[in-house]
Amino acid sequence: MLNDRLVSYSGVQPSGNLTIGNYLGAIRNFSLYSEKYKTFYCVVDEHAITVRQNPAELRRRTYETLALYMACGLDPEKNTLYVQSHVHEHAELAWILNCFTMFGELSRMTQFKDKSAKHSDNINAGLFTYPTLMAADILLYQTDVVPVGIDQKQHVELCRDIAERFNQIHPNTFTVPEPIISQSGKKIMSLADPTKKMSKSDENANAVVYILDDKDTIIRKFKRAVTDSDTCVRFAEGKDGINNLMTIYSCFTDKSFEEIEREFEGRGYGDFKMAVGEVCADALAPVQAEFARRLSDKGELEAQMKRGAEEASYYARRTLGKVQKKLGFVKI
Ligand code: TRP
Repeated sequence: MLNDRLVSYSGVQPSGNLTIGNYLGAIRNFSLYSEKYKTFYCVVDEHAITVRQNPAELRRRTYETLALYMACGLDPEKNTLYVQSHVHEHAELAWILNCFTMFGELSRMTQFKDKSAKHSDNINAGLFTYPTLMAADILLYQTDVVPVGIDQKQHVELCRDIAERFNQIHPNTFTVPEPIISQSGKKIMSLADPTKKMSKSDENANAVVYILDDKDTIIRKFKRAVTDSDTCVRFAEGKDGINNLMTIYSCFTDKSFEEIEREFEGRGYGDFKMAVGEVCADALAPVQAEFARRLSDKGELEAQMKRGAEEASYYARRTLGKVQKKLGFVKI
């Protein structure tokens, strides 16, 4: 809790290419969070360098990520949006938490195992201690809830264990956070293989629609979407492709499946795919325009980053100061 409000904390990777799955399943609803919680969204550039980055690209994607989240409706007046490396307390608390985290615990993290297999030429210590930096992100803000995908649940649980261990030795230091796993009842599937989740890292470019795809690209991708040999637009078992397209259409239009079935009665898949492409492109057009507008004004974006960092620092400083005092660091 901060100032009597429950805190929600999210870290977002600086990768510009978010998908309509990210948009419909999560980002579009972020603005609702700020009604219930004091919300922090942090672009985690320090986490990003646990795998090699091209510096110019990392810088560009940091700007883009911030611009895109704002374009998707995150109001910087109602949410604290900032960049991790602008608040030095993250790295400092991460060091301290390293001393309260066991080698065995970090070794058990499935993301570490996956990433070390994938980047076997660069299994650096940062990759190993990634979860303690993430714990520092969360604990600096006395966070109550952490909305994450299922893949990050293990990291949030480790964060809880670290917080509890620290609190046991130094009582009343950290709020112990709960993960909120976005079940997103509306899971958006790949257009090429509708039994698989739509993923921004899919190798097949036709499988994924990005928030920033232009209208022609969006329509082309939907035209090529895998369906089935039936011809009738209806939601049914075994029709994964059509079910997915109906879900997407429903998310963008707020129409129920029955309404959609009625709308496309007697019409073929071609018509339906075209309609899904149209509503998707039309819904994303204002987001894309706002993204372009925000990105074109670097000065304003930087001013925004600065305001966010100042606000975050205020809280981060308080928690780090408390921790340092409890540990016995001399204050001068
Ligand atoms: N590890 C998260 C991911 O890859 C990003 C992240 C960093 C994060 N710090 C966080 C998420 C704090 C939630 C809270 O998606």
